[in-house]
Amino acid sequence: MQQEAYKWDSTLYDDKHSFVYRYGADLVDMLGPKKGEKVLDLGCGSGALTEALRSRSGSVVGVDSSSEMIKKARSTYPLCTFLKGDVRDFSGSHPFDCIFSNATLHWVIEAEKAVKCMFENLRYGGRVALEFGGKNNVDTVIKALRRILFSKGYKEQSALQLWYFPSISTYTSLLERNGFEVTLAEWYDRPTELADGETGILDWLSMFAKPFFKGIAAEEASVIKKEVQGSVSGALFKNGKWYADYKRIRVLARKIENNNLK
Ligand code: BEZ
Repeated sequence: MQQEAYKWDSTLYDDKHSFVYRYGADLVDMLGPKKGEKVLDLGCGSGALTEALRSRSGSVVGVDSSSEMIKKARSTYPLCTFLKGDVRDFSGSHPFDCIFSNATLHWVIEAEKAVKCMFENLRYGGRVALEFGGKNNVDTVIKALRRILFSKGYKEQSALQLWYFPSISTYTSLLERNGFEVTLAEWYDRPTELADGETGILDWLSMFAKPFFKGIAAEEASVIKKEVQGSVSGALFKNGKWYADYKRIRVLARKIENNNLK
């Protein structure tokens, strides 16, 4: 959960979008933090997975750029350390044994900066477990949103590049160029059931796609969201439930010692 100039609604997040961290539980297992390891959670959001990491390792720092999320995380999980920070230039006071990041890196267009930041914060031999949106993530929703914005004359909004959804080869190459050895990489479909059977896509747009509606009056934005939901119903509404067409990248990697970094 990371993006500058974006006011996160931690209540809407926890009430209707808790799937973001429920799906991340598998990634905690894949990282496999051991007792005594120092863990860094980059883009910790409201802290649920930070707490899951702490319960395994005993020591975790959660970092997020949203003051709102950090406030909520601190009050909910007092045994974790939470810091406001940017995943592109966070600097911990010691090297970490492992780094975890769930559903955050797609918000970081400057992906190489985030990778370099992970490298700097990790000890040699340390590992990372990362999951985020990959190539063609939420394509059905976003294509419909762009088309409808454009048709109503909101050309600038329709062209907004808000997210980084790389292909698996782009991302693993980026890691390798920056001193990591990739041990597992997957790109997979994860149709994600949305919480509300009536307003699933509307809620998703309200939670995650706010910048597309910059400069658009609230009533007009609401009409656009309804049109988007209507136009994707054939593809994304099944048996009374809404699904977002998520495509994930999941990567495990470790920091290697003798690399020829440029
Ligand atoms: C995702 O988790 O893939 C995602 C969430 C919000 C916006 C874009 C992508």
